[in-house]
Amino acid sequence: MERPKSIDRKYNAVITAVGMYVPDEILDNKYFEERLDTNDEWIRTRTGIRERRRLKEGATSDLAAAAVKDLLDSKGMDANEIDTIIVATVTPDMFFPSTACLVQNKIGANNAWGFDLSAACSGFLFALETAASMVESGTQKKVIVVGADKMSTIVNYDDRNSCILFGDAASAVLVEPTEDKNIGWKDSVLKIDGSGKDSLHMLGGGSLNPSTCETVAQGLHFLYQDGKAVFKVAVKGMADISVELMERNNLTSEDVAYLVPHQANLRIIDATANRMGISGDKVMINIDKYGNTTAATIPLCLTEYYRAGKLKKGDNLVLAAFGAGFTWGAGLLTWGMD
Ligand SMILES: CC(C)(COP(=O)(O)OP(=O)(O)OC[C@H]1O[C@@H](n2cnc3c(N)ncnc32)[C@H](O)[C@@H]1OP(=O)(O)O)[C@@H](O)C(=O)NCCC(=O)NCCS
Repeated sequence: MERPKSIDRKYNAVITAVGMYVPDEILDNKYFEERLDTNDEWIRTRTGIRERRRLKEGATSDLAAAAVKDLLDSKGMDANEIDTIIVATVTPDMFFPSTACLVQNKIGANNAWGFDLSAACSGFLFALETAASMVESGTQKKVIVVGADKMSTIVNYDDRNSCILFGDAASAVLVEPTEDKNIGWKDSVLKIDGSGKDSLHMLGGGSLNPSTCETVAQGLHFLYQDGKAVFKVAVKGMADISVELMERNNLTSEDVAYLVPHQANLRIIDATANRMGISGDKVMINIDKYGNTTAATIPLCLTEYYRAGKLKKGDNLVLAAFGAGFTWGAGLLTWGMD
């Protein structure tokens, strides 16, 4: 999917508030060193991760609700003003009701509708495109997009190939209409390719393999990743699509204030930035603190950099992600908050 360049519309969709929540418990690399055949140096040099968070009690909807409450508090906004809640997640509290319903109830958003969106590590990007399309059409005025995942519930802590990578977190943005065409969501290129299903998945519990003692004994309720295979396609996928987005919009690296990449592996991020000609100081990074929080990584970066005073109105940001499916894409966002 490529956004048509010539749509004449009244509104642009712009991010007008941000929020985040990370649990208190920190699992540093030493935690894994003590349990598995791994070490801090391997994890840091191969992934860029120093520590990640784990939510002891509660579920993804608790992470998401806390992030939305943080957003509402910082904006001084009442939950009843929210029109729509989109929760991007691959770790919903349960199959149904949707996590969006549970979040709606927890925050008391009495006038909202909403739904979950499943696109793994590209979930926030896909949800932002969805929210922007709604807002641009004029039908919705205040859309909350949350990226939230409690990865600790699907990670096998005996599998050193994957357990060191993931963490728990949530982060949210508010998307509103603006008549200022200089700011907001400008363009996107988004893709899916289901032939990637064998490299990264969780096979158990769905209609293909309903949970039984056998599926649990086989570990099908855990995330599985062929790291090497995913690494190769992730580097190419994220870099190619980010370059394509820049070319479509005649952007040079000077025009881009920040690359905001999904935080799966620092080496994938570096390779993407290199291909785009973007220097390291213009790449948002927090993988060292949180690891891969799946749908939460991109809004977490936006929230932290904005709150640290590193983002200003008019900054061009390229958001890029790659995840299970495969799903991948890039979007161009001109920051609209002072
Ligand atoms: C998982 C990942 C960090 C592994 O890094 P890598 O450099 O590809 O490592 P490899 O898979 O080639 O493994 C190299 C060796 O390290 C070992 N190893 C794997 N995990 C290890 C760990 N935690 N500690 C120590 N050694 C480890 C492997 O067993 C392998 O050993 P072998 O050569 O004896 O078989 C990397 O492949 C990756 O980040 N993949 C993509 C993740 C991603 O983007 N996901 C998509 C979005 S979620």
